[in-house]
Amino acid sequence: MRIDVLSIFPSYFDGLTLSLLGRARNSGILELNVRDLRDWTHDRHRTVDDTPYGGGAGMVMKPEPWGEALDEVAASTMSSGTARPTIIFPSPAGEVFTQATARDLSTRDHLVFGCGRYEGIDERVFEYAASLGEVRLISLGDYVLNGGEVATMAMIEAIGRLIPGVVGNPESLVEESHEDGLLEYPSYTKPSTWRDRSVPDVLLSGNHAAIAAWRREQQLERTRRRRPDLLPDEDAL
Ligand code: ADE
Repeated sequence: MRIDVLSIFPSYFDGLTLSLLGRARNSGILELNVRDLRDWTHDRHRTVDDTPYGGGAGMVMKPEPWGEALDEVAASTMSSGTARPTIIFPSPAGEVFTQATARDLSTRDHLVFGCGRYEGIDERVFEYAASLGEVRLISLGDYVLNGGEVATMAMIEAIGRLIPGVVGNPESLVEESHEDGLLEYPSYTKPSTWRDRSVPDVLLSGNHAAIAAWRREQQLERTRRRRPDLLPDEDAL
């Protein structure tokens, strides 16, 4: 998969050289290019924002640098003969990002993340981007961040680890929170007693069916308690 990130703070993404995603980049499974949006400005101050038409607080990102940047990254996909890119703009006004979104996006050949700052991006940029690829406005959740960078990092990590070969043991992807619609069961390791707290007996029993049943019950109980919104109606009671 190829991912291009457009941001006025490219160094936010330095952390993506670490750990599993860093290894995926080194091995060629993931091509990640982080580009400075200001490289597509043409004035001495490398201006990317201006005051909003109609008045109001804050600044709005100008369309011109975005247009040129999107043209360049989209054109490189088109010339390489792969499908049109999926262009994602992190936004608190977008659809909410879930594990299902991550799974869907992990199957794409080329993702472009456009990180907005200030009060947002000129609306015409989203319309124009739709002529280059599929546009998605995606929110990390119902709270406001200072810009799209942190949301993009979170999405790249959630998507990237679903690309085959990124996580060494694919089985570890199956038994996680949200993969089967429930929160994951509690985990324990040695020692079996620590500070007067014992590991549940069933996990030491060697009885695989009993362990599986216990884990399932724990998943349901945790989900009921912490995230009842995830359960189908009849289980939520
Ligand atoms: N930018 C600002 N807030 C955001 C959020 N909650 N999700 C995605 N991008 C954002």
